[in-house]
Amino acid sequence: MKPVNIGILGLGTVGRGTVEVLRGNAAEIARRLGRGVNIFMVSTRDEAKARALCPDGTRITADPFEVVRHPEVDIVVELFGGTGIAKELVFEAVRHGKHIVTANKKLLAEHGGELFALAEKHNVMVQFEAAVAGGIPIIKALREGLAANRIRSIAGIINGTSNFILSEMREKGSAFADVLKEAQRLGYAEADPTFDIEGHDAGHKITIMSALAFGTPVNFSACYLEGISKLDSRDIKYAEELGYRIKLLGITRRSEKGIELRVHPTLLPESRLLANVNGVMNAVRVNADMVGETLFYGAGAGALPTASAVVADIIDTSRLIAADSGQRVPSLAFQPAQVQAQTMLPMDEITSSYYLRVQAEDKPGVLGQIAGLLAAQNVSIEALIQKGVLDGRTAEIVILTHSTVEKHVKAAIAAIETLGTVREKVVMIRMESLHD
Ligand code: HSE
Repeated sequence: MKPVNIGILGLGTVGRGTVEVLRGNAAEIARRLGRGVNIFMVSTRDEAKARALCPDGTRITADPFEVVRHPEVDIVVELFGGTGIAKELVFEAVRHGKHIVTANKKLLAEHGGELFALAEKHNVMVQFEAAVAGGIPIIKALREGLAANRIRSIAGIINGTSNFILSEMREKGSAFADVLKEAQRLGYAEADPTFDIEGHDAGHKITIMSALAFGTPVNFSACYLEGISKLDSRDIKYAEELGYRIKLLGITRRSEKGIELRVHPTLLPESRLLANVNGVMNAVRVNADMVGETLFYGAGAGALPTASAVVADIIDTSRLIAADSGQRVPSLAFQPAQVQAQTMLPMDEITSSYYLRVQAEDKPGVLGQIAGLLAAQNVSIEALIQKGVLDGRTAEIVILTHSTVEKHVKAAIAAIETLGTVREKVVMIRMESLHD
């Protein structure tokens, strides 16, 4: 059978990795696929670099539009990233009948609806395994492996940069800013780390997984984002003393009220596997009605792990090119006509338990007042400890609550902050038991 022709847009880290995987494992890939994968064309500004990497016959162009419009390209592999030129190129490629393999989570999370509709119209596939959790085949698992289930929830450590920072803060007791500098020195964090540490990257990934899990349109604007930059290492230490680890989690959960979609630092019981995923590694926990709990662990970034996902998509797409579109796995896991918008819960309506830290005057009755204000909102206390007197007059009180609706805990916090004895804003961090 004639090899499938691919056109690669971008020879950065993942692009180079993709060429390396395709060339290094060419024989094994052909054994699986029954045909070869031909790197027909590559778009990059650095022709010399491309020439050194790619097979002799590969055409190299500085104009990416040549790739997406070339009649002999079957699959466009988009590795530019972002929603500028990459968006234009992907849409143009679809209009030219090209199948798409992309690692571009931002494009999918922010413009997925438009893109999938256009792809359906032009009868082409859009594959994006590499967009979520790098080398972990979580998209395949959600779309196919768990297809027998009604999925209840997903919770994932899906940003390696943040996980590295939190792991270091816990192990060394260091401040956020110091660990961030170290992460930048080691190349784990970008010079501008905002996208990773403020939860945007994790938000894009959990938004995509939420759509696949529940059969809803991708809706990044409904995703609540709270990053790790304001975390105080004291809270990491207190959490640890109470038997918890703090992780940046992407969470999506379906309840009778609607769908929760959120990214924020989260206390997890240290006995949970997810709490023990450290450094730059990623892990995604899926809870579904028939299979129960499943956990997927692996490298969430890096040239070869991400390329492993890109190439798996190239293989899948190559197999299905000739198939009737009805036999293909739908991009969003559900038949396009079955993808339905559902109520997305605002944060006030989510259900969680909470870690609260209050700095208050150390005198009789203060603890009682605080407990009373929580009780007034029907927030039940699971544990309460006084963490010591800082200056002889101020006590630091750490409270863990039982599960409650967020608006109630926020109302209690607002009331606590009005107390004359309370010195600073209350610190609130959400907690998950991961039982559902
Ligand atoms: N920057 C991401 C991370 C990897 O830190 O996990 C690419 O999505």
